[in-house]
Amino acid sequence: MSDAKLVIGNWKMNGSWAKLCDFADAALRDRPTCEAALCVPFPLLPAAQSALQATPLRWGAQDCSAHAEGAYTGEVSAGMIAEFGARYVILGHSERRTAHSETDGQITEKVQRALAAGLTPIVCVGETSAERDGNQTPTVLRRQLLQLVRTLGRDMVRIIVAYEPVWAVGRGDAATPGLIDDTHAFIGETLAIHAGLATHSLRLLYGGSVSARNASAILSLRRVAGVLVGGASLHAADFVDICRAAARCADEASPVSSVDA
Ligand code: PGA
Repeated sequence: MSDAKLVIGNWKMNGSWAKLCDFADAALRDRPTCEAALCVPFPLLPAAQSALQATPLRWGAQDCSAHAEGAYTGEVSAGMIAEFGARYVILGHSERRTAHSETDGQITEKVQRALAAGLTPIVCVGETSAERDGNQTPTVLRRQLLQLVRTLGRDMVRIIVAYEPVWAVGRGDAATPGLIDDTHAFIGETLAIHAGLATHSLRLLYGGSVSARNASAILSLRRVAGVLVGGASLHAADFVDICRAAARCADEASPVSSVDA
C-alpha cells in the first residue's frame, strides 16, 4: 500500500460546472501532492472529466446501481460512471443507508459491480449516536463489514473503507483523534481476522466534519490512510488546505493507542 494519504471530496447534491472550474484552477495553482478526488453528482461526471483531467485531481461518483444494465428507471450503472474516466465511487454512505434504506447486502452487490467496472469503491461504515450511546459500535461495524468480507474475501484489498460515525457527519464536530484511532484499529483487526489480510494492506479513511482546521490532527494518525470530506470539500481553498495537510502528514506517524498493526 502506498504511504500517500488520500483526500476524497463528497459533494453530495451540490456543485456546478463553474465550481469544478474553480477547483481545476486551484489544483493547477497548488498542485496537491497527495492523492485527491472529488465525488460529484452524476450529471457533473462529464464536466469533471473535462475540467479536471489536466489537473492532479481525480473524480468519482457517490453511488451506483447494484445491476449491470436493464429496466431500472433512474439508476446509473458502474460501467456508465467508468466511461467518464471516474476512479472512485462512494457506496453505503449513511445518507443512502437511511434515506434509501440500503442494506449491507445491496451495498455488497454495488461494490461487486463497481469492482467489475474498474472503479475503486469507498464503502462507508459507522454507527448512529443511539448505537454509540448503547455501546453498539463494535456490533454495528462488524455487521456492516462482515457481509462484504464474506463476499469479497481477499478482494477487500481492492476497496477503501471509510469510517464515518453518523453523529459526526455534517455537524461541525469531528470524532476525536483517540476515538478515530481506536475505531480504525478495531476495523483493521476485524478485516484482518476475517479476510486473512495484513492490516497494513487495507486503506481506511475517516469522514465526519473534517475541516482545514482539524485535518492535520486526523491525517497524522498512522492508521488513517485519508479523509472523506463533505462540507469542506465545497470550498476550493479549504479543500486545498486539507490536501496540503495530507501531503505533510504522509510520512509522519502519530503514536497508536491500542493494538499495533
Ligand atoms: P461532512 O460530510 O464532512 O460535511 O461531515 C462527510 C460525508 O458525509 O461524507
